[in-house]
Amino acid sequence: MEEFRSVRGFHDLLGEDTEKFNTVRQTVRRVLESHNFEEIILPVVEYAEVFQRSIGEATDIVQKEMFVFPDKKGRLLALRPEGTAGVVRAFIQHRLFALRPYTKLFYEGPMFRYERPQAGRYRQFHQVGAEVFGISDPLVDAEIINISYKILKELKIDCTVEINSIGCRVCRPDYRKALTEYLESVAGALCEDCIDRKDRNPLRVLDCKVPACKTAVKEAPRIGDFLCEECEKHRRELTDYLNSMGIPYVENPNLVRGLDYYTRTVFEMVSQELGITVIAGGRYDYLVEEMGGAPTPAVGFAVGVERLAMLVKEPVQKKPLYMVLPMGDTLHYALRVCELLRESGKRVELSYRKGGLKKQLELANRLRADYAVIVGEDEVKEENISVKNLHTGEQIKVSLKDIFSAVL
Ligand code: HAM
Repeated sequence: MEEFRSVRGFHDLLGEDTEKFNTVRQTVRRVLESHNFEEIILPVVEYAEVFQRSIGEATDIVQKEMFVFPDKKGRLLALRPEGTAGVVRAFIQHRLFALRPYTKLFYEGPMFRYERPQAGRYRQFHQVGAEVFGISDPLVDAEIINISYKILKELKIDCTVEINSIGCRVCRPDYRKALTEYLESVAGALCEDCIDRKDRNPLRVLDCKVPACKTAVKEAPRIGDFLCEECEKHRRELTDYLNSMGIPYVENPNLVRGLDYYTRTVFEMVSQELGITVIAGGRYDYLVEEMGGAPTPAVGFAVGVERLAMLVKEPVQKKPLYMVLPMGDTLHYALRVCELLRESGKRVELSYRKGGLKKQLELANRLRADYAVIVGEDEVKEENISVKNLHTGEQIKVSLKDIFSAVL
C-alpha cells in the first residue's frame, strides 16, 4: 500500500528541530512573563468574518490565503491565519476593558495560511504574539519593540529593526490619494497584482517584491511627508524612546505590512541571514472599535516560531540522561532507583531490554545516555548503585540513602 505523507505546507517537527522550536517558545514566553503579560488561550477556529473585518477584505490573507469552510449549519468558519483578530474578539466578548485600566495579553499556537510553501513559509506555522490594549502612548510601542529586540538578543539572532509610521484616519486619506495618483502615472510598469492593488489597497504596492514594482515605487510620495501633527509627534517620541533604550533601528518608508488594521507605528525584525521577516507588529488604534467594542488604542507583535527556530544555533541543552540498567533479577529495585533519581530532578530512562552488562551499556550509548546506572545483585544487597559516566568512563558507587545529596 502506498504510504501516507503529511499535507503540503504542514510539517512534522522532530528531534533537534523540536528542541530549537521549544527554545524559541520558552524564550519568548519568559520575556513576556517578565513584562507581566498574561496568557490567553484562544480557539483555532473563528467565524470567517472576524478575520475579514479585521485583517481587511482587500488583503492577500483574506482574499487568497484563508482556510474557510462552512459548519453543518452553513456558517462560514476559518482556521485562524493570525492571532490578533481573535484576541480583539475575546477582549470585547469578555469585557476585558472593564477589568483593568489596561490589558496585556499573550497567546501562542498554530496559524494557517494557504500560501505557496517555501523555506520559512508554511501553511501551518506557529506564532507567539502579544497585545497591549488601552494605551496610546508611544512608550508602549517602544516596549513592544524592546521585547522583540530582547527576544532576538537572548536567542543570539542578528536582525535589523525596521520601523515606519503609516498615519491615521486624519492623514492617511491624503497620502492614499497622492499615492494612487502617482501609481496611475507608473501603472504601465506595475505587475498584474499591483494594478489591482493600486485601486483597492495602494499602500501594499509599496512592499511588492516584484523588481519592476520596486523600481516603479522608488519615486513614490512618502507617508512620512504626509503625517499629521499627532502622528508626527508619536513617531518622534517613539524614536526618542528607542534611542534612549539603545535599540538600533532603520526607518523604512516603504514598510506597510500585509494587514489593514495598522495605524501609526509598524515594525519588522528582518533577518539578514535568511532575508525574511521573523517578528512583526504595530499599533492598531481603531480595530477594537471596528470590531464592535469601545474605542481602545492597541499595539502588539507576533513572533514566527519556525522562522526564529531556523536561526537558533544552539538549542537549550537538555538535562543529562541517566539510563538505569537492571542486571539479573533486580527489576523491582531498579524501578525504585528510577523513581528516586527522578524525584531528585534527573532525566531517567529504564532499560526495557534484557541482557548482560556489555549489551546494556551498548544500548545506553545508542540511546545517547550520559550516565549508566548499573543495578546488579551486589548493588541490591549493598543498597547502592553504580553510576558510570559514559563520556569519561569513570565509575562511582552511591548509597541509596545518599541519592539526593550525592553529586552525580
Ligand atoms: P504577520 O506579519 O502576518 O503579523 O505575521 C507575524 C510573523 O509570523 C511573521 O513575521 C513570520 O515570522 C510569521 N509568519 C507569517 N506567515 C508565515 C508563514 N506562512 N510561515 C511561517 N511563518 C509565518 C501578524 O500575524 C500580526 N497578527 C502581528 C501583530 C500582532 N500585529 C499586532 N499584533
